[in-house]
Amino acid sequence: MVQFLLPKESQVRPGERYPVSGKGPFKWFHIYRYDPDILDNPRMDSYPVSLDHPMILDGLLTIKHKIDGALAFRHSCREGICGSCAMNINGVNTLACITPLTSYKGDIVIYPLPHMRMIKDLVADLTHAFQQYAESRPWLRSSKPISVYKERLQSPEERRALDGLWECILCFCCTTSCPSYWWNPDVYLGPATLLQARRWIVDSRDDATQERLTDLDDAFKLYRCHTILNCVKSCPKKLNPAQAIAGIKRDLLKRQL
Ligand code: SF4
Ligand code: SF4
Ligand code: FES
Repeated sequence: MVQFLLPKESQVRPGERYPVSGKGPFKWFHIYRYDPDILDNPRMDSYPVSLDHPMILDGLLTIKHKIDGALAFRHSCREGICGSCAMNINGVNTLACITPLTSYKGDIVIYPLPHMRMIKDLVADLTHAFQQYAESRPWLRSSKPISVYKERLQSPEERRALDGLWECILCFCCTTSCPSYWWNPDVYLGPATLLQARRWIVDSRDDATQERLTDLDDAFKLYRCHTILNCVKSCPKKLNPAQAIAGIKRDLLKRQL
């Protein structure tokens, strides 16, 4: 069996257990805590959270406002639209703001998105993932002149081709659950960026289709996807990045025939 030697500060130790206050039913939230400015191991702190909270994010906000103001996590829209509250809840990457407390029978264990550099507590560093996304040039590239008076029209079929792609909110739940990305984050683009790349490849208004395909025709950028399908299971918007990646591979194959 392979043995991994973990650096001392990567071993998670037991942390604080905050006292139960109030009388109603509650759940324990066990939350990963890590502060890179403190030379200490990460720890799991435990907080009692009333079942009156509808969503996991509501519970986290109450912890922050009433129990432990130092807890760090991202959130913004609270509607499953901005993608910022992505985290690993009971072993699955998902959005805290649209995950009901009652989705789980027992305690709730929360970690940051896995396999990313950590900033603090539940805040993973997504700088590299967003750089890869930016390198895919995710905007309309067209030689047609821009006019403020004339829209770029699409037929209903052309518009429908974007369904299942435009809805992506760039939460990176898929990318951070992809084993191929864990192993090759510097070279493999990962499911979120590839799904977004496909979104522009199929857009009838975009003129850079061939250039986009040529950019992706690479053993590492695209073909590191081995169809393991973790990305599909973890997408909170029920999208299918694996299908989008297969679509890019199909387009590249068609070009060769
Ligand atoms: S299907 Fe591809 S992108 Fe999705 S998890 Fe598997 S290897 Fe990663
Ligand atoms: S495909 Fe789904 S999981 Fe991946 S970034 Fe987009 S919305 Fe998030
Ligand atoms: S806060 Fe915006 S998706 Fe959760």
